[in-house]
Order: sequence, then structure tokens, then C-alpha cells
Amino acid sequence: MPTRPDSARRPALSLPRRLRRLRRTASLRALVEETVLRPADLIAPLFVIEGEGPAEEIASMPGQRRLPLADLVAECRELWALGIPAVDLFAKVPEEAKDAVGSAALGADSLIARAVRAVKAAVPELTVITDIALDPYTTHGHDGLLTADGCDVDNDRTVEQLIAMALAHARAGADMVAPSDMMDGRIGAIRAALDAEGFMQVGLLAYSAKFASGFYGPFREAVGSGKVGTVAGPADKKSYQLNPANRREAIEEALLDEAEGADILMVKPAGLYLDIIRDLRERTRLPLAAYQISGEYAQIHAAARLGWIDYATCRDESLLAIKRAGADMILTYFAKEVATAARVSDRWGLLATAGA
Ligand code: PBG
Repeated sequence: MPTRPDSARRPALSLPRRLRRLRRTASLRALVEETVLRPADLIAPLFVIEGEGPAEEIASMPGQRRLPLADLVAECRELWALGIPAVDLFAKVPEEAKDAVGSAALGADSLIARAVRAVKAAVPELTVITDIALDPYTTHGHDGLLTADGCDVDNDRTVEQLIAMALAHARAGADMVAPSDMMDGRIGAIRAALDAEGFMQVGLLAYSAKFASGFYGPFREAVGSGKVGTVAGPADKKSYQLNPANRREAIEEALLDEAEGADILMVKPAGLYLDIIRDLRERTRLPLAAYQISGEYAQIHAAARLGWIDYATCRDESLLAIKRAGADMILTYFAKEVATAARVSDRWGLLATAGA
């Protein structure tokens, strides 16, 4: 709309600055936009299953599926073509493959090792990250091994198991491993083990500030770790994941991971923990990742289904807020559709949707 002086009208307020001037048109808004979200900022978490298919829908995560290897490879090709630089692989193994120590996580023929080889063979330039934690593989659903009395997760024995898992993934060709277990000392121990085997170039994306969140529910359905805490006694994820009340402790965890050799630090969940992302951004020079988790994704879907919020606007806004808080990269189940939307968006780019 053209601006015309309205001579009949004198300003009611005498204002030296009117910030609305720069918000008047889409092109002005594009000029002063401070934060930009690109497909290259996004990492797609993917769920992998055994077998020939078909892919399985995950009820609590609309649009997300558990992928057999052939579908996984096809999905990775599509993501790469859309400009997504990285995927993070999670396994769902059958109940009968689980045991108390998560043996199915190990070895050259584990589901994830085969998945890494298949993806790297098909899309060699795509960065393949693997999740390092035992919860998809243990009968009790904990991220580590339980102590003999079942009352705690045994930190140091768990770290031994995580090292074996990380080495297996590195041998399969993973570009980065991402420990999500929250055991003490695992970053330094995995770094040393990778280096000792000559995997100096395999990166460590550390789930540094990972909180004991109620919003992981849909993920636990996706990987089948949902019965955690109900099987093997009083051990609780709160004994290793951070208390949502604790900001200083989160920074301490992250700076320890940095000192132990992490290449990238992560905050998880993302949207409810923007203060932690910002705090950490100001205290480290490492790249920062944030994980927009399953419950964050499910909430937006659920409210949009009820007609209470506009889906695409809220999706884009949720990601933009995480980037604005200071994350360099975002793990998000929205990765593919946001990259697709970026392809077809109008001349002012993706954020024209969120900023319109
Ligand atoms: C645990 C792990 C969790 C997620 C990924 N790895 C949380 C948990 O079950 O404690 C959650 C991811 C999500 O909710 O999207 N190793």
C-alpha cells in the first residue's frame, strides 16, 4: 500500500521514532529480519527398523515413520536433495532382541551399523550421526546398565558399553556419534577410544544439557523404550538426566563436555529451554545444537488438528525461536517439510511464513 501524507491529519503523538515504519511491507520486513532459518541448519532424526517393510506409522508423531533400510536410504536421498545436511539415526529393535545390557546395540551387524553403511554407500556426502545410548535395546528401557540391585544405572560400566557402541558405529562409517545417555565422563572416554582406533575425524555431538522431560513420551513410543521405570525397580531417568529446574547445572554439564572434547554441544528439549541455549551461547565458542523433541512436535500437530493454532505458522515460529536463542543447528522432525516449504516459498523465503 503506497504511503500518502494525510494532510488532514496531524499526528496525535509526537514520536521521534516509530518502529512500525519498518514493519509496514513484506519487503521492509525482509530487510530488517535478524534471524534466518535455512535447510542447512536442520538435522533430521530418523527411526530405523529391521525387515523388508512396510514402514510403520508412529501414531503420536504424525508424518514420522519407522523405516526399514530400503526406505531409510530413499528418505536420505530425498533429504539430501532438499538441502538437509545431516541425519541422526535411532533404532527400534524387536522386543526379543532386547536384554538387560543392550547387546543388540553392538557389533558390526547391528541394525544401526547396517543402516550407516547403507546410507553412506548411497548418499556419501550426507552427514550421518548415530545416537549413542542403550534405551532402545534394553528390556528395562534405561539408557545404561543397571546395578546388581536394579536401583541405579551403573555409570562406569555403562560408559564401557557406550564406547563399544560408538566404535561399532565409527567402523561402519558414521561421521559423528551423539551420546544421549547423560552418563558422567562418557565424552572423554569415547573421544579417547575413537582416537586410539584411528577415528580422529569422527565427531562428537554431545547431548550436554539433556533434561528429564515429560515431553519425550512420543519418542519412547517410537523406539519402544516406553516402559522405562516400570520394569526394573526404582532406577529413574532423573538419576542421570538434568532436573528441569537447574540452569547452572546445565551449563556445568555442557562446559564439562567441552573440556572432555565434544565438537558440538546440544541442549534438549529446545523450545522450553531457550534460556539454556542463550546462556550456553554466551559461554562457549563451540557450535550449539538444540533438539526439538517428539513432544514439541506432537503438541504443534495436536493443537493444529484441533484447529486451535495454524500449523505452518507455529511450526516455523517454533524453529525460528530456537535459532534466535542461539542454536546453530536444530534436530527436528519438521526438517523435511520445512526444507520442502523453503523450496516453494515466496520471494522473501521461508520466514515470510513465520514473519508475515
Ligand atoms: C534417550 C533419548 C531420548 C530421546 C532421544 N534419545 C529421551 C528419553 O527417552 O529419555 C528423546 C527424543 C525425542 O523425544 O524426540 N537416549
